[in-house]
This record gives sequence, structure tokens and C-alpha cells, in this order.
Amino acid sequence: MKFQSLRGMQDIFQSDSKKWHQLRQAYQLVLNRYGIGEVQNPILENLNLFVRTVGDSSDIVNKELYSFQDRNGDFIALRPEGTAGFIRSIIEKKIEHESHKAYYAGPMFRYERPQKGRFRQFHQLGVEYVGFPEGDADLEIISIVADLLEELGISQKAVIHINHLGSSEVKQQYCNVLKEFLMDYKDSLSEIDQKRLESNPLRVLDSKDESAQDILALQEVPRYEEFLTEEHLQLLNDINDTFQERVDISIDHKLVRGLDYYTGLVFEVLSNELGAQDSFIGGGRYDNLILELGGKEQSAIGFAVGLDRLLTLFEPSNEDRKKIIFINLAGSNRHHAYKIASNIRALSKKVTVESILTDASLKSQLRKANKLGGDFVLIIGDDEITSGNFIWKDLNEGTQEIVTLEQLTGKITHL
Ligand code: HAM
Repeated sequence: MKFQSLRGMQDIFQSDSKKWHQLRQAYQLVLNRYGIGEVQNPILENLNLFVRTVGDSSDIVNKELYSFQDRNGDFIALRPEGTAGFIRSIIEKKIEHESHKAYYAGPMFRYERPQKGRFRQFHQLGVEYVGFPEGDADLEIISIVADLLEELGISQKAVIHINHLGSSEVKQQYCNVLKEFLMDYKDSLSEIDQKRLESNPLRVLDSKDESAQDILALQEVPRYEEFLTEEHLQLLNDINDTFQERVDISIDHKLVRGLDYYTGLVFEVLSNELGAQDSFIGGGRYDNLILELGGKEQSAIGFAVGLDRLLTLFEPSNEDRKKIIFINLAGSNRHHAYKIASNIRALSKKVTVESILTDASLKSQLRKANKLGGDFVLIIGDDEITSGNFIWKDLNEGTQEIVTLEQLTGKITHL
């Protein structure tokens, strides 16, 4: 029997992992600028943690959790997102009353129908700010997002949609009014939207279904903005004024997000280069969650980047790192050759010295050097070790020369 990876799960190979590496370097650079430190939480958590946080009306909890009973009979789930685990961890450590600026990166799991840009195992970079009330922190969070887009060179391909959900009372009030309005059109809604109308009417605003769109286009639909206070609307305008020169911002009062824990600012970053799964960053404020999970009352805001989607937008820069292919033809002096190769690696941060590690003929090793995309080849044999002269080939120029160790050192430090 031949095994295959599970549906919606990807193997990431070397050629892709270079792109992942550059992506990590870019986001770490931005996070360092803000003094945000890394946390690592477990991939497995108690199932109920997600029911209580993400919410039992969310798609995630209803149909997407990977869950099982462990050998002790406890109900466990693979994390579908990182906010719940992080908040659980700071409450458990009794440090939720302190302020935190934290990030995490790693795999998340949702049993969704796989399609382009939608996987069952995907990767998120998440940022959480705890202990910072509405205002400056909201601006700083959007500033991090704008910096990330800029650092990755994708600001032109992205639009940040922002909305304000108000306090939990306002959210509930609007929810009730919207539900009452939509009830008159219930029969025209799709089966999924009818269910949403019962469990979380706000989600109907998100619906891509045509009949829902038609109803929502009606003049008399209750509008979120009419329920928001001056300060709420001001925050959206402030964000728009501060960042619109760097990235497109769209104030979008239909943006509600699919997780239940949000109140206050919510946002999503969309790109029309992504196809149907066009949202690659999502986040917002969740000031009630810590209290609801048994911690002290504490404000919090954060976001998560879908790294798999981001990867398709991001074009890695050409690496200026040069590749030297090291061919060891030495016999009894073999180990000396490796010593020389090690010394060369230590000479410059800009070189890769990749050895071929076979006894194949020189000809076939040179063929391999070309296949590996080498810029240079260094050939070391017994004679070269004794004489201290090495063969240096420039594969891009098609030239070859004999160099002393000193000349070699000079060449490599100037690459
Ligand atoms: P979310 O919107 O559910 O938010 O997910 C964030 C991002 O993860 C999405 O924008 C998307 O790019 C990516 N994503 C989600 N599901 C998939 C999938 N099946 N395949 C590929 N990518 C996917 C959260 O998870 C919140 N925890 C964000 C947050 C942090 N809010 C506050 N703090």
C-alpha cells in the first residue's frame, strides 16, 4: 500500500522552504522593530477552550474542529487558531493582568473543504497585544500590518478593510435589529444563511450568496454605522487618515469576521490576486475574552496572517548569496579537504559551500555542480592539498584558474 498525505495537508519541500525562510526573516524583522517577543503554545488544547472562545455559532466549532478523545477519555482538539491557546496560557500563568506584546507562528488545523488557498493544515503568524485599551494600540496593530505588507513588497496588492463592532451591548443590539429585519426575508435566504440567522445573524452580512446580497442591498437594511458612537467612527477615520498613503484602506461596515470573540475594531486584509480565498490577514479587538475565560478583566487586540496565502503574493528577492560547489577528489588526505571547506564556510556569511559527497567521476560531479545551480566550483585533490594550489571554476563566466589558499581566501571574502 502506498501512503499519501491527507487531503488538505501539504509537504513543503526545499525549493519552497527557501521562500518560507525569506518570509520568516521579513516578518521577524518587522516584529523586532516593535519589541514583540515569541510565545510557543501547544498544538493540542482542551476541546472546550475553542467552544468557549471561537464560539459555538462559528463554522470552526460547528464543523471544522479536528477533535478526538485521548487515552484518558479527555476531549482534545488540534488548534484551529492561536488566540485561544495564548490567552489560556497567560490566564493559567496568572499574568493576564500584565501587558503583553506577543507573536506566535505555526500550523493550525481546520477541517474545511480544500481548495486553492484553503488547506486543512495551514500556517499562521499571530500577533496579540494584551493590556492596551482601545486607541493607540489599535493604530499600532494596523501599523504592524502596514509594515509587514511593505517589508514583503505587497502593499500595492492589498486592501485593509476595517470596521468597528462597537461594545458587546452595541453588537448585541445591532444583531437583534438585523435579525428582526432579515426574518421578513428568511424564505429567500439560502439554507446556510437561514441557519446563520438563528445562530449569529451578523454572519449573514458576510454571505457570498446572491439572494443574501440582494436583500442586503435594499435601502432599508439596518446599518451598523448608525449604531456606533462618534468615538467608534473616529477610530476608523483615524486609521484611514494615518495609513491611507501607505496602503489602501476601506471602511466596510459589512465586515463582521467569523469568530465570535470580537468587539470593537475588526479588520481583514484582502488581495484580488488570491482568487476566492482572498483574505490573508484577519484580526480585531476582543476585550471580553479574558474575563469570559475566567481571567481578570483585560483588553486585548490582535491579528493572524495566513502565511500560505501570503506566500503566493510574495516574490522573494534574488539571494545575493553565492554558491560554491566543493568537489573532494582527495584520497588518503580526504579529511584535510573537509577542513579547508569548513574554513571557507567560516570566511563569509554570503557563501554557501555545498559538497557533493560522492566518489563519482570529476565529469559527473561537475554535471551535478551545474544542476545544483552553483556559481563556483572548488576542486581539491591530493595534489592540491600537497601543493597548496586549488582549482577554482567560475561557472557563470566559464573560466578556470589555479589559486593558492591565500588567493582563494581573498576571492571568497570579496564575493
Ligand atoms: P482567521 O480570520 O480565522 O482569524 O484566520 C486568519 C487567517 O488565517 C485568514 O485570514 C487566512 O489567511 C488564514 N486561514 C484561515 N483558515 C485557513 C485555511 N483553511 N487555509 C489557509 N489559510 C487559512 C484568526 O484565526 C484569529 N485568531 C486572528 C486573531 C488573532 N484575532 C485576534 N488575534
